[in-house]
Amino acid sequence: MNTQIFLVCEPAAAQKQLEEAGKIIRAGGLVVFPTETVYGLGGDGTNRDAAAKIYAAKGRPSDNPLIIHIADPEDASRYAYTTPLYFALAKAFMPGPLTVIMPKRDNVPDSVTGGLDSVAVRCPSHPVANALIRASGTCIAAPSANLSGKPSPTEASHVVQDLMGKVDAIIDGGACEIGLESTIVKIQADEQGQPYLLLLRPGAVTHDALCCVCPRVDIAPAVAEKLAENERPLSPGMKYRHYAPSAPLILLDGDDADVLAFLQREQRTTRCTVLCYDEEVDHLAQGKIIPVGSKSDLARQANRLFAALREADATDAQIIYAHLPPMQGLGLALYNRMIRAAAHTVLKI
Ligand code: TXA
Ligand code: MG
Repeated sequence: MNTQIFLVCEPAAAQKQLEEAGKIIRAGGLVVFPTETVYGLGGDGTNRDAAAKIYAAKGRPSDNPLIIHIADPEDASRYAYTTPLYFALAKAFMPGPLTVIMPKRDNVPDSVTGGLDSVAVRCPSHPVANALIRASGTCIAAPSANLSGKPSPTEASHVVQDLMGKVDAIIDGGACEIGLESTIVKIQADEQGQPYLLLLRPGAVTHDALCCVCPRVDIAPAVAEKLAENERPLSPGMKYRHYAPSAPLILLDGDDADVLAFLQREQRTTRCTVLCYDEEVDHLAQGKIIPVGSKSDLARQANRLFAALREADATDAQIIYAHLPPMQGLGLALYNRMIRAAAHTVLKI
């Protein structure tokens, strides 16, 4: 397949290209587009064949459901049974990096939801994503635009590596601002019928922020822990092997000075690459480090993580080391992605 590339930084200046991309979606084709979190691999969310094409292009199992993307938070009611809690979340966080799972309406095909009776809905804040959804005249079903098993793409060049020739078009809108996928919550009801939230995937909308809108926000155990053999996951995506670098990733937990001394020793004796803090750059061997931001700058680390893992994969390292992130605030989202990439391997220094 011939993949067209549209360079669109300012939607207003690229109306024609966005119209063209919207037409591709309406005709059942696939368009990769930027969002504020990561790039998405989009198709018409009401077209069951488009969903099948998305799974095929990504090499993804078709029982792992897709998120549908809408241009206006109000549009969720067309595809899902919305509740006052949904609108409270929408008022606080949308458009933005939050996905809400609710019971689905019949116009969302089973192929999009992997046969589930719920649907995940998100209203991205990226102006190009918003303009594309509007131009398509439908909702856009989109997983992250990586090949299954690779880190989510945060730049168009990552998408080109993974999906060139497999999609109709790629909209290059530059680097994604957040760099980690959206926070996912499911609206649940307790025994008294009171609504509460279950956090299935942490992201830039933090647990603390969600608690400001909803007094009860449970964190699904699989967010930070290993799923036991044969345990039924709360979200199908939790059961799949996530991105794992070609060399084993080991997360280091300990005092800064001890960890740095360990890394210096390892650099002398093994072929390793270190995802290091900016503060460590001058103390480690050059050429074997990938700086990911300042220790205190979790937003920068989140923004760099997936690109850094792709860079680490391109080295000849036999081991990749990185710091174990804290579990508070945005740290929980980093922790969730890194602990999976490391297959839960943490070395206490
Ligand atoms: O930031 C994001 O959310 C990006 C951009 C493109 O919007 N999308 C993204 O999609 O990360 P994806 O498909 O890579 O991750 C969606 C996750 C999957 O783990 C899937 O299992 C889960 O959401 N999911 C989707 N619908 C669900 C449902 N109805 N019930 C439970 N989990 C669901
Ligand atoms: Mg993904």
